[in-house]
Amino acid sequence: MAPVRETISKGVVSPLRAVPKGITRPDYVGKKRAARWTGGDVHSAEAIERIRISAKIAAQALAEVGKHVVPGVTTDELDRIGHEFILDHGAYPSTLGYPGAAGRPPFPKAMCTSVNEVICHGIPDSTVVEEGDIVKVDITAYKNHMHGDNCGSFIAGEGTERSRQLVEVTHEAMMRGIKAAHPGREVNVIGRVIEKYASRFGMESVQSYTGHGVGPAFHTGLVIPHYDAAPEHADVIEPGMVFTVEPMLVDGSQANEEWNDGWTVVTKSGAWVAQFEHTIVITDSGPEVLTLP
Ligand code: MF3
Ligand code: CO
Ligand code: CO
Repeated sequence: MAPVRETISKGVVSPLRAVPKGITRPDYVGKKRAARWTGGDVHSAEAIERIRISAKIAAQALAEVGKHVVPGVTTDELDRIGHEFILDHGAYPSTLGYPGAAGRPPFPKAMCTSVNEVICHGIPDSTVVEEGDIVKVDITAYKNHMHGDNCGSFIAGEGTERSRQLVEVTHEAMMRGIKAAHPGREVNVIGRVIEKYASRFGMESVQSYTGHGVGPAFHTGLVIPHYDAAPEHADVIEPGMVFTVEPMLVDGSQANEEWNDGWTVVTKSGAWVAQFEHTIVITDSGPEVLTLP
């Protein structure tokens, strides 16, 4: 039997990585908070083509980083790989310098790396990935004034049968949620489908963190719940809308807390978590995934 992994603790965060002058930064970089987006969530065909480009870069970056999730790698090294990939494609890593909650520091890295019981917003640092870890990589690219956002879960080595199931069920839950996103329905249909599917396997779908409108803003203000929120979150899905679906499923209780770094969110019990995320566009005939490599 492999030794059981200790709980995750904070490592050392490396100095800020540089971004060349020629790469356009989102307007929140260097600001206390991101400006509220007032332009709505339905976009022109021309705008969607630009989101498509950013989404593709984000998906390619995710695939590249995912290849390097192996025992022995640090999450800081994963960040270096993603940071350089995004820059090499003429894009900006949207999380770098993203403003935090009031009084909290901005996010300091090019992606979130959330290991095992970390639900989301883990900061890449000196943490060494071990055999069997579930590493969630959440990476977003900004180019031509548009963001594309996606996340995947990677197991270092083989993992246990249950951890593989957690990852597979989370992916399937996301895909089922996406497939439910048809014009004319309320966005809460997405969460209803996800939560129902998770419950079949004794898994909880996290309620505190949600999907969101994305494109000209990293987070537009539109909320996509991953649980049955009806009658709340009744926004009607329309053609031309772009948003994320990004369920976090817990193998246990979703009760959670934030570390005092202002970002890292962990389950209170130490229960493990998987997450997947796609950016999707709604067409007349239904959803289309944009974050494909
Ligand atoms: N990419 C995350 C999402 O899916 C947001 C991360 S914000 C950060 O919405 F500041 F933590 F990076
Ligand atoms: Co994301
Ligand atoms: Co997102």
